[in-house]
Amino acid sequence: MRKIIFFILFINGSFIGFAQNYEVKVDSLMNLMTLQEKIGQTVMYSGRWDQTGPIVGTDNGKYIREGNLGAMLNAFSVKGTRDLQKIAVEETRLGIPLLFGYDVIHGHRTIFPINLGLSASWDLKMVEESSRIAAEEASAEGLHWTFAPMVDLSREPRWGRISEGAGEDVYLGSEIAKAYVKGFQGDDLSKPNTILACAKHYVAYGAAQAGRDYHTVNMGEGELRNVYLPPFKAAVDAGVETFMSAFNELNGVPTSGNKFTLRDILREEWGFEGFVVSDYTSINELVPHGFAKDSIDAARIGMNAGVDMDMVGKLYHHFLEDLVKEGKVPEAYVNDACRRILLAKFKLGLFDNPYRYINEERENTTKYKPEFLDKAREIAAASSVLLQNKNEALPLSKDIKKIAFIGPLVKDEYDIIGNWAAKGDRKGKAVSVYEGISEYLNPNQILYAKGCEILKDDDSGFEEAISISEQADAIVLVMGEGHHMSGEAASRTNLKIPGIQPELIKKIREANPNKKITLVLMNGRPLNLSNEVDLVDAILEIWFPGTMGGAATADLLFGEVNPSGKLTVTFPRNVGQVPIYYNMKNTGRPIPEDNPKEDYKSNYIDVPNTTLFAFGHGLSYTTFTYSDFRISSQTLNPNGTIEASVTVTNSGNRDGHEIVQLYIHDKVASVTRPVKELKGFQKLALKKGESKTVTFKISVEDLKFYNSEMKYGVEPGEFEIAIAPSSDFRFKHTFNVLD
Ligand code: BGC
Repeated sequence: MRKIIFFILFINGSFIGFAQNYEVKVDSLMNLMTLQEKIGQTVMYSGRWDQTGPIVGTDNGKYIREGNLGAMLNAFSVKGTRDLQKIAVEETRLGIPLLFGYDVIHGHRTIFPINLGLSASWDLKMVEESSRIAAEEASAEGLHWTFAPMVDLSREPRWGRISEGAGEDVYLGSEIAKAYVKGFQGDDLSKPNTILACAKHYVAYGAAQAGRDYHTVNMGEGELRNVYLPPFKAAVDAGVETFMSAFNELNGVPTSGNKFTLRDILREEWGFEGFVVSDYTSINELVPHGFAKDSIDAARIGMNAGVDMDMVGKLYHHFLEDLVKEGKVPEAYVNDACRRILLAKFKLGLFDNPYRYINEERENTTKYKPEFLDKAREIAAASSVLLQNKNEALPLSKDIKKIAFIGPLVKDEYDIIGNWAAKGDRKGKAVSVYEGISEYLNPNQILYAKGCEILKDDDSGFEEAISISEQADAIVLVMGEGHHMSGEAASRTNLKIPGIQPELIKKIREANPNKKITLVLMNGRPLNLSNEVDLVDAILEIWFPGTMGGAATADLLFGEVNPSGKLTVTFPRNVGQVPIYYNMKNTGRPIPEDNPKEDYKSNYIDVPNTTLFAFGHGLSYTTFTYSDFRISSQTLNPNGTIEASVTVTNSGNRDGHEIVQLYIHDKVASVTRPVKELKGFQKLALKKGESKTVTFKISVEDLKFYNSEMKYGVEPGEFEIAIAPSSDFRFKHTFNVLD
């Protein structure tokens, strides 16, 4: 019987072979399915691993055979996916193929910088290229689907998952979301090297109270729509095939049981046609949230709210059939969920050939291709941010007699690929900073001491570190967080460089008052560097830069590559300023520019309101000057556009790249608007001495926002405008939007 149905469905074609499109094929298939089989498509379980790869767990095998399992996570490799797929295709009544998903977040084998780092490249092409390579590698190991991109905007450095996003800005975050989707999904999902993307975590997860993971989120609908939803909407516009509902509650309603965000906004307003997967047991968590009385109730709420697939929670598997039979969940919802999931499988071509992603030759030849590694090196360099460069400490000359490299991360090959590094190799494959600098220096030029661990309190290595610093002509410290200190469940209340590393920095400066010291930082969040800015000359933020991170860092340190990255998230002066972001509101008592400490103004008595390093900040080994700002008209008509331009000149001594940023400020509106809003950017390559004119087009579309009645539009009036190298500037120009 099984074989006959398989034959009829997929080979003979009398049911679906003549169908014109996937929707018709899905309907034909669904006509053959029992309710239990349809529910089976909404169930995802996790693969199991032994030493060498995934194995078919007894339960998973059983569930697949029974038609109770439609998708797997954490199962990949040709062997592992073939074993599982075979059961689904050959041992079930209808032979419906499984979908294999995995967290391919910033690379699969070849690891790119963590996403926050990658965003600092402001390079949409690089974002797309990195996710294209990730999709190449992942799909060659049997994967069809990644749980990425995370498009959660966040202004919360305490939140460990800020490392997985694109920073604090709505516009940039939305552009980056689109680039990821394009990279993963390509232009044709039926190609075996493209995979489904997943916009997560829907929604407002990045605004968890006090930066504590999984914590409560309260926010007005205006902020939700103006700030937190747009990157998700951008992902929909880019054709993202799946969404993931989040862990957090939003205004009292957990987002994995939130009909308003899932059905009203995502489905009705935005017309999203793909499927929604829960986060890991996030439907079960409706119970501890206090939103469902038990697991059965949680299953009911989840499906009714619009979560199509239950990630490992077992709830849909065990309770959905009865809930439908009892009339507590409309069968139409299950049909819709099943239809969407099957549609994705059709789009991937799995019904043409369920093994099309399972190919030994591709698996063996795709990972770590030299061109992937070259790209990873280029992207890691472009993602690093030169935060400070006093006394021209950088770049280092290759002729310096002796350079001391000190710190727990100098020789690291483990943390350097970051927290969520998929199947990135932590032992041996990644290029450490030490290996990177060894390409540039002779062994006798290099002095090395670890000095201390990232977290341990043991200062027994200080003496050696200080001693080699004294013998050196220049000093490079490679320090920061361990990779596990950011990412999921890695919130911190302290944003300082961890452990006793700050003490070592201080001691090294005391011992070497006149030497140039560079601090190279690996970390997954903005840190409080208030002490270090005075203790060291240069600070190079390399985040967790990935497989080729050490090589890229050496390229930057020795000036082979000129730094070009800029921050996509504010670095605060201390944790007490958090949340602090460039596009805050003005308040009724803004601080006067000439007297920031004035009493009864919106300031602190102990630290300035200003950032340590602003959004958009990043230095280069050359300098850029901005001149000749022009605006094509002082007035913007509702259907028209205006152009703003500026001339940027490379006024220093090296070729370089500059990220030119367009900001506006809506001065008066029916709801207050942020003091600055990024509305465009361009990354320019400029040879030394070269000038280019950068032009931005502005239309009313760019100026729209949701007002207090949740109407989306532009309000006439005066706007300020600037084209600047970072968000740290004062507006000088204006234009008017006409009625
Ligand atoms: C995370 C998701 C991830 C999922 C599957 C969850 O804990 O929040 O981002 O995709 O696990 O691994």
